[in-house]
Amino acid sequence: MNQSAGTTSAPSDLLEYIGSSDDAIKVADRIDWARLPRQIAVIMDGNGRWANQRNLNRIEGHQAGIGAVREVVETAARAGIGALTLYAFSVENWKRPQSEIDALMELLKQYLARELPTLLRHSIRFNAIGRLDGLPINVQRDIEAATKATAHSTGMRFVIALNYGGRSEIVDALHHVLADIGKGKIKATEIDEQKLVEYLYTHDLPELDLLIRTSGELRISNFLLYQIAYAEIWVTDKLWPDFGRLDLLRAIVDFQRRERRYGNVDTDDA
Ligand code: IPE
Ligand code: IPE
Ligand code: MG
Repeated sequence: MNQSAGTTSAPSDLLEYIGSSDDAIKVADRIDWARLPRQIAVIMDGNGRWANQRNLNRIEGHQAGIGAVREVVETAARAGIGALTLYAFSVENWKRPQSEIDALMELLKQYLARELPTLLRHSIRFNAIGRLDGLPINVQRDIEAATKATAHSTGMRFVIALNYGGRSEIVDALHHVLADIGKGKIKATEIDEQKLVEYLYTHDLPELDLLIRTSGELRISNFLLYQIAYAEIWVTDKLWPDFGRLDLLRAIVDFQRRERRYGNVDTDDA
């Protein structure tokens, strides 16, 4: 079983998974295990470019990307991260060719079917966020099944953002708030930043501490707009299919080196 976050030495479960290469030992040594990011979110980008570089089609790039998803989920769970949120399909991604959309949906279904035993073995609790009712019905059913099957897991929260948009999420929250005001459940004067959080798709997730984007693009692409207010951002040039176990740990090392000031002055100057 996982050692939980808060321990000072690397979880043995993780060491077993990353192996004992010099690089693995070095990165695991540099992590402060008592100060892990509470939630990590990832903009998984670059599957198309990875395929292009190899004269493959984009769909083969997405297939290769599934391998990286598997590794990152297992690494995060074994490391003791509280929650991992992966951006898999945006509300804007419907603009892509239908054949690519169909392939992505099919890959998602395959992933859920094949990975369920791993999720259960590591006590990972799965769910999806986004406008799920806009997804094909068979995908909705598989998401529901995986959510239900892992509902009693007490380990890492694993969230896939599908048909997700940060702006749509805020609009959906607003509609929900207005409906609750209409029903007399809350008063308009009760709405503050904290209250609004309760209406976001991510209401039951820990604070987003670290946002990772692969493929070097320096943009947010409509991901978790409200939640990233004070997240640390880490961008790598690696394309998503090349992102592996140690890359996630390197991002955590870098995160822990940053000074988070939250608008305050340097604590040494205070
Ligand atoms: C990210 O890879 C995967 C999804 C958006 C589903 P892309 O398909 O965006 O790859 P690039 O950006 O074209 O290389
Ligand atoms: C962001 O990647 C969306 C996902 C990773 C699902 P995109 O490839 O769609 O983003 P843009 O178009 O480069 O902004
Ligand atoms: Mg892209």
